[in-house]
Amino acid sequence: MKRIGIIGLGTLGSEVAKQLNKQGLWLVLCDIDESKQISGLPFTTNANIILNDPKIYMVVELIGGYHPAYEFIAGALKNGKNVVTANKAVIDQYGSELEQIAIENEKCLKFEAAVGGAIPVIDAIQHSLTGNNTKKISGILNGTTNYILTRMHESLDYETALKEAQEKGFAEADPSFDIKGKDAAQKIAILASINFKTKINSEKFYVRGINSIGQFDIRYANSQGWVTKLIASAEVKVNGLELKVCPTMISQKHPLASVAYERNAVHLQGDANITLAGEGAGKAAATSVISDVKRILNGAKPERYFGNNEYIILSNGNLISRFYLRFDAVDKPGVLHHISGVLSDNKISIWKVEQLGESNSKVPVAIVTYETYYSTLNSALGSLDRKIADIRSIIHVLA
Ligand code: HSE
Repeated sequence: MKRIGIIGLGTLGSEVAKQLNKQGLWLVLCDIDESKQISGLPFTTNANIILNDPKIYMVVELIGGYHPAYEFIAGALKNGKNVVTANKAVIDQYGSELEQIAIENEKCLKFEAAVGGAIPVIDAIQHSLTGNNTKKISGILNGTTNYILTRMHESLDYETALKEAQEKGFAEADPSFDIKGKDAAQKIAILASINFKTKINSEKFYVRGINSIGQFDIRYANSQGWVTKLIASAEVKVNGLELKVCPTMISQKHPLASVAYERNAVHLQGDANITLAGEGAGKAAATSVISDVKRILNGAKPERYFGNNEYIILSNGNLISRFYLRFDAVDKPGVLHHISGVLSDNKISIWKVEQLGESNSKVPVAIVTYETYYSTLNSALGSLDRKIADIRSIIHVLA
């Protein structure tokens, strides 16, 4: 029987090991922490034992992060082993390089679990949807932030919601990756690279996280019948590819509006519009890892996911959107005049405006603009008198 080495026995790794073991596969486990051993299964703390064992046919890398994950994957491929990984960071950063090593060594490199947890979105883009001519991908790709935003819409405060998400095992080891949108950025970079047959790195585009969102913003969204989501998107425009990750207020009719808690979803717009949704974080990703393992056991051939198409990645300043802006403003005559004056000087038109309370000192003021360039918005905000009105929250509006 073909032997499989699993490196990394965290939440996902131990779930994968248990399930593959139940299915009677021959496993060798590895983790730097000896307490992660699973009784009855061969175990080592030294990954090189797995990488150099000629009887090991496939390595499942589940340690996450860039290094030594990169070295383990590259080493396994060079030693003639197939590789399955759930590591979005390493695929985002080194995907095409690792793919080249896999092709040269005639081995498979599969990473379905890197994006969307249990949702088979990579396989869908790579195989089933090649006829769809997909021009735009929008997704909720981070379970932790979706969980936090959903719970905040149910009136919970941000800190408690984050703690719950961590306790449920959705968050990264460093949750700031989730919160700041970096995890979602790595995932949309991977999907866009596969769909547009290119290789984009997540450091090349606009990413805004959810850390400045407060209950005022969520209540405002509720009052308009909108839902706040961290949306990651990639779209072909006439002048290049637009990629972004940003908190976005969407209408309840939007295909992603009902995707709640830790669920993920991807909406693909092409000749047909398709939405794939499902469990996106925590143990659910084991399903995708196991499917990749089975495909390889069933004789999958090495294939290229990425490509050499070259696109101009549109810069942040070129993004056009409606924006929700929350100011912390002095509650005195002339304050709205100042804010609207600054917006008007920059030719930004106001769609809605509302003061969210009253106070002797400062009050939140919400303004939703019509479409404007992000660069124009930034220069307008730069000319505000911060003592009168300070910007506290910027959320895109797609309603
Ligand atoms: N931390 C990720 C999330 C899970 O919250 O979606 C795996 O990618």
